[in-house]
Parts: sequence; C-alpha cells; structure tokens
Amino acid sequence: MSPPIEIFHPIFGRFIHIVNDPEVQLTTDDLKNVYDLMDYLSQVHSSEPKYTEELRQKLYHILEFDVLPTENPDGTRSDGTITLHINDARIVLLVLELKREIGDGGSNPSHQAGLSSKRSWIDDSSKTIHEKCCCPTFLVAGAGPWMTVMGSIFTDRFIIQRLTDMRWMSLSSTEEDSRVYHNARVLVALRRCLHELKDFYKGLTDVPPLAVNQPHPRYFPYPDSYPGENGPTHFRYLRSLEEDNACVTYLAELVGESKKVVVKFAARYGKEVHKLLVEHNFAPQLLYCGPILENPLSDVMHMVVMEHVDGPSNKPPDRAQIEEILWLLHSHGYVFGDLRKPNILCDQNGKVKLIDFNWCGHDVSYVYYPVSMTVSKGMWAEGMEPLAAIRPQHDWEMLDKILPKGTS
Ligand SMILES: Nc1ncnc2c1ncn2[C@@H]1O[C@H](COP(=O)(O)OP(=O)(O)O)[C@@H](O)[C@H]1O
Ligand SMILES: [Mg+2]
Repeated sequence: MSPPIEIFHPIFGRFIHIVNDPEVQLTTDDLKNVYDLMDYLSQVHSSEPKYTEELRQKLYHILEFDVLPTENPDGTRSDGTITLHINDARIVLLVLELKREIGDGGSNPSHQAGLSSKRSWIDDSSKTIHEKCCCPTFLVAGAGPWMTVMGSIFTDRFIIQRLTDMRWMSLSSTEEDSRVYHNARVLVALRRCLHELKDFYKGLTDVPPLAVNQPHPRYFPYPDSYPGENGPTHFRYLRSLEEDNACVTYLAELVGESKKVVVKFAARYGKEVHKLLVEHNFAPQLLYCGPILENPLSDVMHMVVMEHVDGPSNKPPDRAQIEEILWLLHSHGYVFGDLRKPNILCDQNGKVKLIDFNWCGHDVSYVYYPVSMTVSKGMWAEGMEPLAAIRPQHDWEMLDKILPKGTS
C-alpha cells in the first residue's frame, strides 16, 4: 500500500476539492456537452476505432485539450493522451484507455492506463522532467458506460491511485439531470486541473539537479513549510524514517538552521493529547499540527511537524516513566491506543518521549481503532481489534506485554 498521492503533488487534492465544491459554476455548454457524451455512451457501438475516435472528439469539447491516439515509446499504443512538449521533453498530462464494454479485449483499462503512463515517464524522452518532479499525470479509464479518473506519480516508484469511483456515465432513465451535473463537475474539475498541470510543468525551472544518494524534492511530499511565528518556516526533507512503502513520516531539516524536525502526515491525529504530554516533557515539542499550508483546501491529510528526538536507539524504555504517562493520560480522560516499542523514544537524558498520536483521543466520547489496523496473532492485547473502542485497560495490557513488570 502507498501513501495518498495527494501529499506528493497539490493537483490531486485540487481535483478532489473542485469535484466536491458546490460553488463551482458549470456553464450551459459544459452541461450540454456532458449530456451529449452520456447520450453517446448510452448507445451500443460496433466499431472500436470509430467509437474511440468519436469519444476523443467529445472529450475534446469538454476538456479543451486534444486527446490524440498515441504510440508509447516502447511501441505499444494508448487510446489517447494529452501531451505537452517543452524543449525536447515529452510530458504526458493525461492518458486515456477505453473499452466498448466491460471485459472487452480481456484487459482492465485502468491497469492499461497506468502502464501507459509508466511507459511514457520511464522513457528517455521524459528524463529531463522526471529528474525534476514526481511527474503527476491524470488517467481516464472507461469501459462502456463506466468511467473513472485516476492519478499517477513517479517518485522512487510508480504509484497509481483512484481519484473517483467508477462512475456511471450513461443515461438510463428520463430523470438523469442530477447525474449530468455530477459528471460535469468531475470533467470540469479535470479540465481546470489539466490547465493548472500544464502551467506547473511550464514553470518547472529552479529545481536542484538530481544527485546520487542525495535527497531530492521529487521523492518527497510537496508541503515544505509550516506557519511559524514570523511567517512560514521552511524545511527540507532528508529521508523517510521507515523502510515501509507506506511510510509518511520523514526526517527534515529547517532551512537556514541545522535543526532537525520530523514531518508526518495523518488523516487523524490526537493533537490535544500530544500537547498535554509536551507540557509534562513526555513528548517532542509540537511545532505544527494542522492543514497543509500550501493547500488548506485539501482536507485529505493533516501535517504534523515536531522536534526530532535524538536519543540512544538501543536503550529499553523505562517502565516507571511510561506508567506515569499512562496515569497522566487516563486521568485527563485520554487513551493512547498504540503503545508499542517503536512509538516510545528516549532522549539523551533518559527521558521517555511518546510519539505517534494518530489513534489517541478522548475515552469518554470514545475513539476507535481504525478499520485498517494491522492485526497479527499476539500483536495486541485482548479486545484490541479494528473498530473496537480504545480503552485505558488496553494501554496497561500493552505495557505489560512490551515491558513486563520487573524488567526495568
Ligand atoms: N519525533 C521523532 N523523533 C525521532 N524519531 C521519530 C519521531 N517521530 C517518529 N520517529 C520515528 O519514525 C517512526 C515512525 O513514526 P510514527 O509517528 O510512529 O509513524 P507511524 O504512524 O507510521 O507509526 C517511529 O517509529 C520513529 O522511529
Ligand atoms: Mg508508530
């Protein structure tokens, strides 16, 4: 599993935001063009080449970009791409893959679109661009009346994710106006974002050159500042703090200072609990916890910036201090929920610092373990399972599990 592509380039959060923004104005032409597209998709078409060509035309009217059939650098073909050329570099803004019916041709158009995007970006003709950024690209995949919009990026690996569900793009009753509006909103969002993406690629100048074994912005999330006392405080990512592909916790360094910080992204974070422990010196100083500054409209993930704890990594945590932390949390009505050794750090003075407040919250109003929590035999205490309420008892049982009484 990979982190959401929304944190690597703002265009994807923008797209999701526009799709869900009721204030976005749709013109009568947009609505008529989308109705025309849906009407076309409601019919049965026998010739694949004619079908693809006509659909490309209809998409052109809505997206205002030519979607042209393309031969990929390796000789395979895409049903369509929107391509930009800057100097000698070939930049794919959008890849289109279509089937007349679900199951046609025996391959999944969303996989095909992802593969086409990958083939384009790994080719030498795109090298000067993929050495500068994470190569954000939109993908549109369709099978008969179903269509989805996806995004791809190319960091140290290629990531493809869905931005919409597979949408029903056909007219199946006389009362389909609201569906026409919804589909128009998606395609208008795509049009706006394609224009913005084009500007992004055109403005890709002052990017530091890629150097072997050196951190480079293309490998990291795009937010690179948080609100400080005197305006934005900028930081530079140094490395990911875990080997795991899903890791969204990074070591970074403040620009102009040698101070190290930790930057992490989370959909859910117990800010109040973290702050309470900071007051008692049991957690790293919290420098920021809130929306991503450059894109406050993106509500997909929050950014957390905190001090980096640079302590001995091999020292077993001190049980007495953790007991003190648990008494403190529980007496304030909080539960922690994820008391495991990787979340217990220790500074140079032997002071315990708890990290990873993603799950914690108020015991009285109940907080729950996430549905996606990793579960393996013997990993958790009794009763700790996806969607169960997090209870103080679980924290105590986890403490006994990781540091049995009498071991420190
Ligand atoms: N403030 C910090 N100082 C030092 N290392 C940290 C800090 N925050 C996180 N880490 C390191 O990063 C790892 C992952 O961070 P964590 O917040 O636990 O993320 P996750 O939610 O992925 O478990 C931790 O196990 C720890 O090794
Ligand atoms: Mg953790």
